[in-house]
Amino acid sequence: MRILLTHIQELLQVRETPIDKVSGAAMAVLPTLKNAYLVIEDDLIADFGLMTDLKEITYDQKINCDGRVVLPTWCDSHTHIVYAGSREQEFVDRINGLSYEEIANRGGGILNSAKNLNATSEEEIYNQSKKRLEEVISQGTGAVEIKSGYGLSVEGELKMLRVIKRLKENYSLPIKATFLGAHAFPTAFKENHQGYIDLIINEMLPKIAAENLADYIDAFLETGYFSVDETKQIMEAGTKYGLRPKIHVNQFTAINGIKACVDFDALSVDHLEIVTDEDIEVLKNSNTIAVALPSCSFFISIPYTPARKMIDAGLPLALATDFNPGTTPSGNMNLVVATACIKMKMTPEEAINAATINGAYAMGVSDTHGSITIGKKANLIITKPISSYYQIPYAFGSNLIEDVIINGVITSKQS
Ligand code: NIG
Ligand code: FE
Repeated sequence: MRILLTHIQELLQVRETPIDKVSGAAMAVLPTLKNAYLVIEDDLIADFGLMTDLKEITYDQKINCDGRVVLPTWCDSHTHIVYAGSREQEFVDRINGLSYEEIANRGGGILNSAKNLNATSEEEIYNQSKKRLEEVISQGTGAVEIKSGYGLSVEGELKMLRVIKRLKENYSLPIKATFLGAHAFPTAFKENHQGYIDLIINEMLPKIAAENLADYIDAFLETGYFSVDETKQIMEAGTKYGLRPKIHVNQFTAINGIKACVDFDALSVDHLEIVTDEDIEVLKNSNTIAVALPSCSFFISIPYTPARKMIDAGLPLALATDFNPGTTPSGNMNLVVATACIKMKMTPEEAINAATINGAYAMGVSDTHGSITIGKKANLIITKPISSYYQIPYAFGSNLIEDVIINGVITSKQS
């Protein structure tokens, strides 16, 4: 099957030589081609170039992209899409003055979702989760990472990871599974942290490895959740099973967690709403990428990750949604890109780099996704007619997506 896209007003993120990520000042550069064509051969990008250089070729389908922008689909490297129910009561409680911490301390928050998840069947969780996945695909996401972490019991964590496995089998976009048993201490282990950590290491991890249910390991390294030393135990155990760490850290407090993550060669450190100069120094010359989650900052009114400071220091930065029922009930990457520009002062070029190639790096798929490169997967967004790609962050409330192509197949036709 060959699809020819013609008269593309602007083709974004064109990388003839493959790159795995972009850092610092290079993030401000978004290579593009104006008045371009692109050829899809089965599931791959087979060719692209200027219309003036288009040779006569045969095709099965032609799409005239006049006035439209074409770009790689978003790579959302941090989500909790698999969960049961919702937490809108806590949302209203926060409006009425309670903080996220206060709600968590009275049994709400992660423990509330864990109660719900353990009481819901695997089939029902799958059905709820697939709706969310289909929604984010229609919003332009073409690669996604999904975490466990609302089970907090052997059966609950396995149930979540089996749902993720089923999503992997039934949907053609890449899905990476992250084991987040260390998301919070269940009430029964409130005074016995080591008991829960032992359960994760001795009961959960061997079963997860035996069923090959996870690609990465995560922990919520935060005051009141997992300490640096507790997280080190989790990272060490995960690494033994070949699960590279991707860690929630520095969301509310900076407690030298980033250094520990870099020491374990974490693929990513995520959140970083609070960042010290030492944290930035540690990240320099590491292979660990920082992932900012601006929709979370927006929704629970916490500081935004200091993107300017980090990019100006030469670091790479990725953007992701954090789609979850507590702090970010949205998987819309377009909104993430807009918020990064509006609130974090990232330029449109930086934000698009952060949400495509750098997002791909943060979930280990940058050799196949995240840029327009011959041989990469044909996962593409075709916008509606727009005046320029600046519209993507500028018209933050509009749906500018006309078509989403995953593995060379047009998945959505939106009005
Ligand atoms: O990434 N920070 C930890 N975990 C989630 C929120 C979990 C929840 O409230 O359900 C996050 O924001
Ligand atoms: Fe998260």
